[in-house]
Amino acid sequence: MKFSALISTLFAAGAMASRCHPSYPCCNGCNVEYTDTEGNWGVENFDWCFIDESRCNPGYCKFEALGYSCCKGCEVVYSDEDGNWGVENQQWCGIRDNCTPNVPATSARTTTRTTTTTRTTTVNSLPTSDNFFENELYSNYKFQGEVDQSIQRLSGSLQEKAKKVKYVPTAAWLAWSGATNEVARYLNEAGSKTVVFVLYMIPTRDCNAGGSNGGADNLSTYQGYVNSIYNTINQYPNSRIVMIIEPDTIGNLVTANNANCRNVHDMHKQALSYAISKFGTQKNVRVYLDAAHGGWLNSSADRTAEVIAEILRNAGNGKIRGISTNVSNYQPVYSEYQYHQNLNRALESRGVRGMKFIVDTSRNGRNPSSATWCNLKGAGLGARPQANPDPNMPLLDAYVWIKTPGESDSASSADPVCRNSDSLQGAPAAGSWFHDYFVMLLENANPPF
Ligand SMILES: *[C@@H]1O[C@H](CO)[C@@H](O)[C@H](O)[C@H]1NC(C)=O
Ligand SMILES: *[C@@H]1O[C@H](CO)[C@@H](O)[C@H](O)[C@H]1NC(C)=O
Ligand SMILES: *[C@@H]1O[C@H](CO)[C@@H](O)[C@H](O)[C@H]1NC(C)=O
Repeated sequence: MKFSALISTLFAAGAMASRCHPSYPCCNGCNVEYTDTEGNWGVENFDWCFIDESRCNPGYCKFEALGYSCCKGCEVVYSDEDGNWGVENQQWCGIRDNCTPNVPATSARTTTRTTTTTRTTTVNSLPTSDNFFENELYSNYKFQGEVDQSIQRLSGSLQEKAKKVKYVPTAAWLAWSGATNEVARYLNEAGSKTVVFVLYMIPTRDCNAGGSNGGADNLSTYQGYVNSIYNTINQYPNSRIVMIIEPDTIGNLVTANNANCRNVHDMHKQALSYAISKFGTQKNVRVYLDAAHGGWLNSSADRTAEVIAEILRNAGNGKIRGISTNVSNYQPVYSEYQYHQNLNRALESRGVRGMKFIVDTSRNGRNPSSATWCNLKGAGLGARPQANPDPNMPLLDAYVWIKTPGESDSASSADPVCRNSDSLQGAPAAGSWFHDYFVMLLENANPPF
């Protein structure tokens, strides 16, 4: 490059890497002697130095080079090797080094004063919440239809209760290849309400059990499924979307050791990274990567964090808001929160900071002693969906009804676990409406309807 040649002939000085430039030190002052495509250069101690734009130029934003703008405020939501990130107007923005809202930069020149004044006023407006569960949630038309089937078969007070359950917001599962065509309908119906989607189509899904196996044929088919949903979402820039990514997969990545799972571990990691690389760059999507539940992974929190960190490293610019747990399970919130704290510590020690958690409370109203995952007898509908449910659990973004309560976990015939005495018998295939189970959950609801 021409300019490097110029420098070496003029000064023949040793190169010195700094945070300002890979081969030159930061200037202490802000006087520009020369400008090229790399930026502004100064001269100090008879050698070239690179102007420290983050200090000298109050308007400078290193994040613009990455395709993002800089935040007006300073609230850090997420950190990675590029720096600190926040969210404003539902979009990712980078936080300037030494961020000081409301305070004009030290070297403010006359020409930048007006900008500084504007910044002061906008910072004071309430930032848009990055927790999409604080927004009204969309009540799923499919769940309404399923509950209607049961309402027709019920009478009296149970029927009245079912009519209330019908409108509790539940997640929309995108769990078959045709589901990509349902995304637009959900988004149209939801308008400005938050839609919670569950991506559940990874190839060799549920590799360690029989209940929900299936998924896309192979990685490229899966990428096509992701792309199709991604493209539809691009057409709805004003929608607010939560994307929960692939329940069970991390659990199997960490603990499943059968050949069926071992053979697909690498492919599963690639698939998760790919989904995050797409949805994690959409400004109106908040991604939660699923990390099974505490009963499964609390004792493997370090290994779990390692796997998550690796998946995030390979996800390009994709970012996640946090982690979902206990999807389709029956764990109590209290013990699950211990897992959140434990996992969060393990993640932070690997540089993954600022994670938030959501927990599935659709069926954990009671706490039967069994650990089965299959149509557990004695379970009840749990706490209603709610944002920031407990100030004592600050990592928790929300209680969410993720599993559709009343849909079967697996046919009684499909997996031996489901034939045990702690599973309600007569169950239809995974995902099908199981009236008797719904009635049981309704009778055991806690809090009651
Ligand atoms: C993936 O599966 C599809 C069918 O869904 C098939 O057409 C394609 O050839 C497969 N690709 C690979 C790489 O196996
Ligand atoms: C998660 O599921 C387990 C059942 O496996 C249940 O015991 C626990 O209470 C649930 N935790 C939460 C937070 O819902
Ligand atoms: C989870 O693991 C942590 C750390 O080992 C431990 O302190 C905590 O009691 C565990 N929680 C549960 C519910 O097992």
